[in-house]
Amino acid sequence: MLFNGNVRDIIAKRYSCRSFRDEPVCAEDLRALNDCVAECAKGPFGGDVRLAIIAAETSDTAMLKGLGTYGFIKNPQGFIIGAVKDSGMALEDFGYVMETFILYATGLGIGTCWLGGTFTRSSFAQRISLENNEVLPAVAAFGYPADRRRMLDSVVRWKAGSNYRKAWSELFFSTSLETPLRQSDSGIWAEPLEMLRRAPSASNKQPWRVVMRGDGEFDFYLMRTKGYRERNKTMLAILDLQRVDMGIAMSHFEYTAREIGLDGGFTLRNPAVAALPGGCEYIVTWRTKI
Ligand SMILES: Cc1cc2nc3c(=O)[nH]c(=O)nc-3n(C[C@H](O)[C@H](O)[C@H](O)COP(=O)(O)O)c2cc1C
Repeated sequence: MLFNGNVRDIIAKRYSCRSFRDEPVCAEDLRALNDCVAECAKGPFGGDVRLAIIAAETSDTAMLKGLGTYGFIKNPQGFIIGAVKDSGMALEDFGYVMETFILYATGLGIGTCWLGGTFTRSSFAQRISLENNEVLPAVAAFGYPADRRRMLDSVVRWKAGSNYRKAWSELFFSTSLETPLRQSDSGIWAEPLEMLRRAPSASNKQPWRVVMRGDGEFDFYLMRTKGYRERNKTMLAILDLQRVDMGIAMSHFEYTAREIGLDGGFTLRNPAVAALPGGCEYIVTWRTKI
């Protein structure tokens, strides 16, 4: 994937933008976004993610507003909708592909905001002609960022603790999940891991855990937030968004590694960990090409 600029700068620039300028996205940028949609459709587990860019309709703002403060989006100029066949690692594939689009858009100077909870699924499902065996885990609003953030945006950010990221010692480990990895001991891997740490996640829960095993191998685990899936399922019928978060984190890690010349890819292995902590599950391994 070719971004419009250095992917580390793009990751640093990205944030959840909830106030957009009341100005349509220009034809040239829309063309570039559509080209990106065509290019980035396959996830790391091989799933095809069907993305569609749609222009916002007047009713969307009212619909988003009606759904409460968290996620109130002003002047969205469009939405990127994604659908994926409901199988195996579909949600991770979805997160990876959608985040690729988001990073690409950020490189063009376009603001975005993931929406996984606060949107009406049926109205978007209709617009992408969702098929029976497909799910629509999330959408993203986009447009040019407004010059000033609204007071409300700051409140939403504060509520979700959006500027906060967990410390390295909580997220990254050496050899096993018992031994925290110090940034100073991570060598050439400091940047891919730091760029992963800056990834967006649903309600900013940051459920990713990564174990560096030596020889350029990294096991990725999902540490579920207690009660999050169950709570959200009953309230909003949301899909398992923390698996989407895993796909997002994988994309940040992989794109950064590649940019600094560390080629490799994701693969599944049997990590044979005797007892994982409660709520923790193995997702995938990154293996560097030697
Ligand atoms: C899968 C997913 C779903 C999200 N759903 C929403 C949402 O419904 N409403 C909203 O305002 N923000 C949503 N967010 C944005 C997060 O709150 C945000 O990424 C997090 O607080 C970190 O802030 P940042 O993106 O500005 O770095 C979602 C993010 C992800 C990754």
